Amino acid sequence: MKKAILSVTVLLLLVNINLLSQKNTPVDESKIESIIQELTLEEKVKLCHAQSKFSSHGVARLGIPEIWMSDGPHGVRAEIEWDSWKHAGWTNDSCTAFPALTCLAATFNPQISHKYGVAIGEEARYRKKDILLGPGVNIYRTPLNGRNFEYMGEDPYLASVMAVPYIKGVQQNGVAACVKHYVLNNQEVWRNHINVKLSDRALYEIYLPAFKASVQEGEVWSVMGAYNKYNNQWCCHNEVLVKNILKGDWAFDGVLVTDWGATHDTKEAALNGLDIEMGTGTDGLSSSSNNAYDNYYLANPFLALLKSGEIDESVVDDKVRRILRLMYRTNMNTSRPIGKMASQDHFDVAREVAQEGVVLLKNKKGFFPIDPQTTKTIAVIGENATRMMTIGGGSSELKTVHEISPLQGLQKRFINANIVHAMGYASGPSVYSREIPSKLDADSLKQAAIQIAQDADMVLFVGGLNKNHYQDCENGDRKHYHLPFGQDELLKEIIAVNTNVGVILISGNAVAMPWISDVKAVMQAWYLGSEGGNALADLISGDVNPSGKLPFTFPVSLKDNGAHSFGEISYPGDGVHQEYKEDILVGYRWHDTKKIKPLFEFGYGLSYTTFDITEASSNQAIYSKEDIIKVKVTVKNTGKKDGAEVVQVYVHDEESSVLRPQKELKSFEKVRLKAGESKTIELEIKATNLSFYDEVNKNWKLEEGKYKLMVGLSSRDIREVVDIHIKQ
Ligand code: BGC
Repeated sequence: MKKAILSVTVLLLLVNINLLSQKNTPVDESKIESIIQELTLEEKVKLCHAQSKFSSHGVARLGIPEIWMSDGPHGVRAEIEWDSWKHAGWTNDSCTAFPALTCLAATFNPQISHKYGVAIGEEARYRKKDILLGPGVNIYRTPLNGRNFEYMGEDPYLASVMAVPYIKGVQQNGVAACVKHYVLNNQEVWRNHINVKLSDRALYEIYLPAFKASVQEGEVWSVMGAYNKYNNQWCCHNEVLVKNILKGDWAFDGVLVTDWGATHDTKEAALNGLDIEMGTGTDGLSSSSNNAYDNYYLANPFLALLKSGEIDESVVDDKVRRILRLMYRTNMNTSRPIGKMASQDHFDVAREVAQEGVVLLKNKKGFFPIDPQTTKTIAVIGENATRMMTIGGGSSELKTVHEISPLQGLQKRFINANIVHAMGYASGPSVYSREIPSKLDADSLKQAAIQIAQDADMVLFVGGLNKNHYQDCENGDRKHYHLPFGQDELLKEIIAVNTNVGVILISGNAVAMPWISDVKAVMQAWYLGSEGGNALADLISGDVNPSGKLPFTFPVSLKDNGAHSFGEISYPGDGVHQEYKEDILVGYRWHDTKKIKPLFEFGYGLSYTTFDITEASSNQAIYSKEDIIKVKVTVKNTGKKDGAEVVQVYVHDEESSVLRPQKELKSFEKVRLKAGESKTIELEIKATNLSFYDEVNKNWKLEEGKYKLMVGLSSRDIREVVDIHIKQ
């Protein structure tokens, strides 16, 4: 029996690995060409722009369907009205809310990313969506960016490895993923017009790799252009980004969709490779002609240029070819599965991602786990203990069947404890692009919290940010690095009456922690979706051992962050231009190279057990360009509980002709180990992945010389070092 279970497990693993490496089924291009022959010029143009907020035209005469899209990226958004941003008011569109992508990245587990993709893809399919607008892979450059929670952290390798299986999972449902926002949309303030300048090295080494991996390894069927400008040209119709890189160098064969309202010019958009225009303001146009969508840049104005011969018909044919290709992969694929929504297995996936993504940052004297049988008084303080986090945040908002709050999760698991709750502070309602302070009396909220803290055996402070404007929310950045709504002061007063305090931070961003040495424990809990409270209780009770790792650095203060070290021109820019002055030194690359100690480093996360790694070795001492470097290492669970650890390999080029970061993540693997167990694993790195982008020759360059492979449990907890050489 045991053997049978084992072989089923092996089989499932193989199926999983197989799915991860599965290639796109080729589309019959001859069918596409014959349809192009049938289409009139008017019909071709119609395919290239929206007909409603979230759909684009089909051609009914030929049975060509409309394309329906939905946000993304943490669940399938509630149905939106045809021509306004209002909810349509359906009663059958409540979804599973999956944890935010920061949490997914923190799992450091590509297999779980695939499960996430499959589940969300099934929900999109059930809702008859052809494109799911996600995942987001913009790099975490500053902790102030309001949309970091929708992205996969600060490291291009981690974001690449985690995005690819998500995409494959979504697309195996016959639903296109749409990787966004291409590219350099690294802040929300002035996102609609800021003109980003940066070195080619930073562009190629930091900001492009996750998009490239999504295209080349994930074989993503659609990409969304960003709002901002790069080198004086809008990203959605940028010659370098779209024509030369995305569709040229990377040979992307899918559809480039605009971000909503990110198109600004017909000719440039048409010629540089924009395929579908969405979201260009229709409100001001609705009184003009009978259909406002006809006035889109890629509608009548495009048709006019085609008719006059100023733009050649081959330009629209290329767009139509891509759109039809996407259709053959999605809504014209007759064998795609039927999908399902809000099923128990989807909630299970949401819970599993949450369990694996929460990061234990501090745990003095074993504060966590808390015995689930305890009869003690636990004061749960903080608005985030009960606040719904699927509401707000902008386009990633969700209408979910249920969202278990942290308080509910704790009440369910700790049935013998005396759990008391106080809000402590209040933030106000979540209204898009508006900050509305709470009307509740701050002082009475604080006094009530201090009262229950005083009488409790322990305090769980559940705070952080939320999905309001100027917090973790689209169309605005945070105004400062501290906890908002008076939480720092509140914590200080709580600590004055009770020193047994654990902090649970719900946020998609790093925050300052001036109180860090005065609390016993800290858990970074992201936005966890439908099953958030249950997953938190799983971890707090010790039913599940934490194994998440930080996908971005927590600096002590904002001035320690690279982007913020060069004044306003670097962040947020002067209102028109912005220069990424920290260059390639984003996140831990900055901290390590400049020797600035972070509060918590990239790749860091504790467990209820301990691990060690020993005996790291490489399969060769000298490698050439074509080689795969294999690093063997033994990892041991040295503690008393089963758990999982992420073995991380960082690389440093010791003899480079250009500046290289002190450390760059090049490989990682999550390893599950029983108490006392050890395993020897082998991690692989393609030698070419040690290259830098050579700005002179405009290509990747692998230099000869000595390289250091650093094997560790975080970017600063390096346990083993292996020296290798690259020879041509
Ligand atoms: C966001 C996109 C989103 C789109 C549609 C835009 O404002 O930037 O991420 O997919 O709206 O809701």
